[in-house]
Amino acid sequence: MKTAVVTGGGRGIGASIVKRLDADGVQVAIFDLKSTDDLSSQLKNPSKVISVDVSSPENVSCAIKEVVNEWGRLDILINNAGITKDCLAIRMSDADWQKVLDINLSGAFYCAREALKVMMKQREGVIINISSVIGMRGNMGQANYAAAKGGLIALTKTLAKEMAERNIRVNAIAPGFIDTEMTKRLPITVKDEILKRIPLKRFGRIDEVAELVNFLTGAEYITGQVITIDGGLFI
Ligand SMILES: NC(=O)c1ccc[n+]([C@@H]2O[C@H](COP(=O)([O-])OP(=O)(O)OC[C@H]3O[C@@H](n4cnc5c(N)ncnc54)[C@H](O)[C@@H]3O)[C@@H](O)[C@H]2O)c1
Repeated sequence: MKTAVVTGGGRGIGASIVKRLDADGVQVAIFDLKSTDDLSSQLKNPSKVISVDVSSPENVSCAIKEVVNEWGRLDILINNAGITKDCLAIRMSDADWQKVLDINLSGAFYCAREALKVMMKQREGVIINISSVIGMRGNMGQANYAAAKGGLIALTKTLAKEMAERNIRVNAIAPGFIDTEMTKRLPITVKDEILKRIPLKRFGRIDEVAELVNFLTGAEYITGQVITIDGGLFI
């Protein structure tokens, strides 16, 4: 049985990815700050919920070891945990800049570094980083988030180059606006403006991102790519 780690798997896009991988017969370890026992009880395969702050390299290292000690292997890592702390750059605090970089970018690096040690021995593995269209286009009020998500794309391409000869594929997904707690926080006027700019005239659904993740886990000739899923927003 294949095994996966999904960071930020407790809710939103991450929870949908957990369910989709489980439906495909994968055992999933959910790494999240919050308890997600409810989600775990809905899964058909054995699963694990581990309390992990991905911005702590020690936390990440212990959690990956726990998964591998118990399940013996790690086939898939989905770096999905992410936060926003929006503010115009000139007013952004050092703390808000750093926190978003620590979780969205360094967190993904720590998880990938630990997972790759296992995947290299297996000579097989898949990493998918959940970036954002903002990481390619920038966005007012999101200097920290855009820098982190752009960095994640550069990290994806670098790891793909470093790991291809070990049969490990690394790709990124760049969602546009997906209906989740993260986008629920947007003011209604901002939402309306965004909707006007999306050719498909709706926000994306979490299961649509999860379906793309599932596709990429099996796409054996795709590596180092960024796949956009945004309803045509940035055509
Ligand atoms: N929702 C969107 O429109 C959208 C668009 C583009 C990209 N994304 C990206 O998709 C990912 C998921 O977004 P979402 O909308 O589902 O967000 P969400 O806020 O609904 O869920 C994020 C999850 O990450 C967890 N998390 C936060 N900090 C963590 C940490 N330090 N360690 C471990 N877990 C942590 C949270 O507890 C939560 O369960 C994020 O990386 C986000 O940037 C979302």
